[in-house]
Amino acid sequence: MNTNLNHRRPEIPQQSQDYSPKPQKPWSLTKPIEYLCREQRLMFILIGMAIASAFFFLQPQFLVSRKQHGSAAATYGKMPYEIAEELGSSISSYDRMAIVRKHQPSVISPGAKLPLGLQRKPLRVVVTGGAGFVGSHLVDKLMARGDSVIVVDNFFTGRKENVMHHFGNPRFELIRHDVVEPLLLEVDQIYHLACPASPVHYKFNPVKTIKTNVVGTLNMLGLAKRIGARFLLTSTSEVYGDPLQHPQKEEYWGNVNPIGVRSCYDEGKRTAETLTMDYHRGADVQVRIARIFNTYGPRMCIDDGRVVSNFVAQALRKEPMTVYGDGKQTRSFQYVSDLVDGLMRLMEGEHIGPFNLGNPGEFTMLELAEVVKEVIDPLAKIEFRENTADDPHKRKPDISKAKELLGWEPKVSLKEGLPRMVEDFRGRIFGDRKEKSAGSE
Ligand SMILES: NC(=O)c1ccc[n+]([C@@H]2O[C@H](COP(=O)([O-])OP(=O)(O)OC[C@H]3O[C@@H](n4cnc5c(N)ncnc54)[C@H](O)[C@@H]3O)[C@@H](O)[C@H]2O)c1
Repeated sequence: MNTNLNHRRPEIPQQSQDYSPKPQKPWSLTKPIEYLCREQRLMFILIGMAIASAFFFLQPQFLVSRKQHGSAAATYGKMPYEIAEELGSSISSYDRMAIVRKHQPSVISPGAKLPLGLQRKPLRVVVTGGAGFVGSHLVDKLMARGDSVIVVDNFFTGRKENVMHHFGNPRFELIRHDVVEPLLLEVDQIYHLACPASPVHYKFNPVKTIKTNVVGTLNMLGLAKRIGARFLLTSTSEVYGDPLQHPQKEEYWGNVNPIGVRSCYDEGKRTAETLTMDYHRGADVQVRIARIFNTYGPRMCIDDGRVVSNFVAQALRKEPMTVYGDGKQTRSFQYVSDLVDGLMRLMEGEHIGPFNLGNPGEFTMLELAEVVKEVIDPLAKIEFRENTADDPHKRKPDISKAKELLGWEPKVSLKEGLPRMVEDFRGRIFGDRKEKSAGSE
């Protein structure tokens, strides 16, 4: 048989087991350079490096780690942050944020983690009592900032007219709800204002007032805990009662009658402060407390018994202005835009408070009546009546803490602010109001 017919491959002679390395080529610099230059590799590498460094450099967290600022500062872009630094260390986080917004409107908002250049993530904010006097001005400012706002109000003293100019805006929602009942919403921040603020209203149903302050605040704090939102309580200078310290500092514990006719409000707010701090200490809720002093401005309830609205309404109607007691008791009057500015700085800042937010300019009731006469009617008369129970004799905030830690102080004087309020009251009392929303600034 022919051996060529079998299919076995011819035997390959086995290679020698000895390893013989390739002869080494001499190293030269030109080879890697040639490799990089071929097919535009170098250009692509450079572009990649530029994109990567731009991404990391513009990350807000990267900026924060450089100086270890607080959480609010984590939202600032490089350029405004450096501007803030140039302006000095006393610049508050809110100021820094304002600078950010001014110079780079597209920059990221608090809580956002997107790199610079992408659109700012708006906050979702709930304002309880947002249809009331202070609440509606706060809502205006939050809306103007680009946030989404949910107003929760039972319309006890609030009015739809105060927020109607936002109807139809997809960023605005209005819910008729009583804060005494629980509520579930998904938001980033809660401004808790719901509570009647004038003596006429809070004495109308004292049990409801204290329920609003205690149960309502508990509900909102529970919500803040559940959804991880930041909570701001609008407390009051009434927590100082008839103060034995003048002017009042935040460290002062107050002189409050626990069983008087004003206690539903005074003690209610004191308990609300206690609850706020207990939720902070016990449940790690991020909280802020503002102690608001007398505030005035457009959209205040007419005839609500508060001295500025009383005097203005009476002078406009040509009625005598009612002064209780001898008219020598003092108050300080803050214009509403100053208060809203202070509340937002407090919410965005790093300090819990409590902070006094008020205008330290002190007026007796008789001096206030003189200013109202000057603005409205020099012939207006004053009528004296017996003073009401537990009416504090003196009230003047010490705002050094807010000045130092929030970089805040009021800017609008009584003589500037009063005419703005008079214009709004005149329109509402005599019905000559134009279509535009009252007091929108
Ligand atoms: N304006 C001031 O001078 C002043 C001073 C100190 C403290 N504050 C505090 O600021 C906040 C706002 O005051 P304001 O002057 O705007 O008063 P306001 O009466 O105009 O506003 C309060 C709002 O809360 C709403 N409200 C009341 N009870 C409610 C409830 N149970 N559920 C839901 N909504 C409810 C009212 O309808 C109203 O819209 C209050 O908490 C008040 O105690 C105000």
